[in-house]
Amino acid sequence: MTDTAAPATDPTVESTGPNEHGYRTFRLGGFTFHRDEHFAHVEWPTGRHVLSIEAFLKALMRDVAWNFFYGIVNFDAVIGTMNHYGNVDLFAGRYNDAYRKAELDHQENFPHEQIMATFKAILADWTNDGYDPFAAPQETGSPFGEKRGDNLAAITRTRVTASRMVGVPGDEPLRSDATGHPINRMFADVPQDEPTVEPAPGYEGEVAAFNLYAYLSRSDVTWNPSVVSVCRDSLYCPTTEEFILPIIHGNDRVEWFVQLSDEIHWKVEDRETGEPRANVVMKAGDVAAMPADIRHQGYSPKRAMLLVWENGSAELPDMIAQGKAPKTPVEF
Ligand code: PHB
Ligand code: FE
Repeated sequence: MTDTAAPATDPTVESTGPNEHGYRTFRLGGFTFHRDEHFAHVEWPTGRHVLSIEAFLKALMRDVAWNFFYGIVNFDAVIGTMNHYGNVDLFAGRYNDAYRKAELDHQENFPHEQIMATFKAILADWTNDGYDPFAAPQETGSPFGEKRGDNLAAITRTRVTASRMVGVPGDEPLRSDATGHPINRMFADVPQDEPTVEPAPGYEGEVAAFNLYAYLSRSDVTWNPSVVSVCRDSLYCPTTEEFILPIIHGNDRVEWFVQLSDEIHWKVEDRETGEPRANVVMKAGDVAAMPADIRHQGYSPKRAMLLVWENGSAELPDMIAQGKAPKTPVEF
């Protein structure tokens, strides 16, 4: 990687020169990050942790692309981030009962820009040529081994975020072969016809419709919700899933899931402790509301289409903390 291509030239990013495997080491407050051929190593004043470089890069990719997302992004049962929308906690063991009881957990708070710049720099330096952290395992190369070039095109993709709806003039475009989005191998049978729209005269710019299944069949990434329609705080964020959600998401609001095709298995745990709460197997047509006080990770045996329906209101986390909004949308 040349220094001109590297976001690590950001002056707030602290890093040292390449190690014996060619990778830089990064420091963020009391945390240090280094990688070798197989693993990411994270150290903090009271402990250290090791995880597969593949799992680490996939989780880091989501955290960066989603701007630290809603609530908590657990990379695994030990490390992760908690978004306070403006500043972000980086933690180790904070949401792990055993670390808490042993008082070995650690967390530090950083301005959004500082942690983002450091995470982008790590991602850029540690992602090798031919490896795409967003891709399904069978659709990308290997993240392992000595440093081998980079893959800046894959890691700087912009997330689809419609301001009204995909396909509306001036908004996010539809996908086609011409836009570089061929139909995925797993969705070869998905019809590609588009709806006929017949607006009354004068409403031509106001009425739009598109084939969401065709749109999703052409997604080149996995576990990456796109905002395809927006109605005030109501956000439709469908995504295509294959293999394992690379993060364990700690919700800070209720999320609705609509299984649009195939099947996903969810492991649902207590958000604070990680204690198991439910296993949910969702088949095509199933709808679930995931509570605001859980964390979850999805397993998708075959590429599947999932609609994640979010309430994007900035007020929700505080309302839930104060008991003004419920943790579940329905009570039985
Ligand atoms: C979620 O945490 O709710 C989530 C995240 C990414 C996905 C699907 C669901 O692709
Ligand atoms: Fe979630």
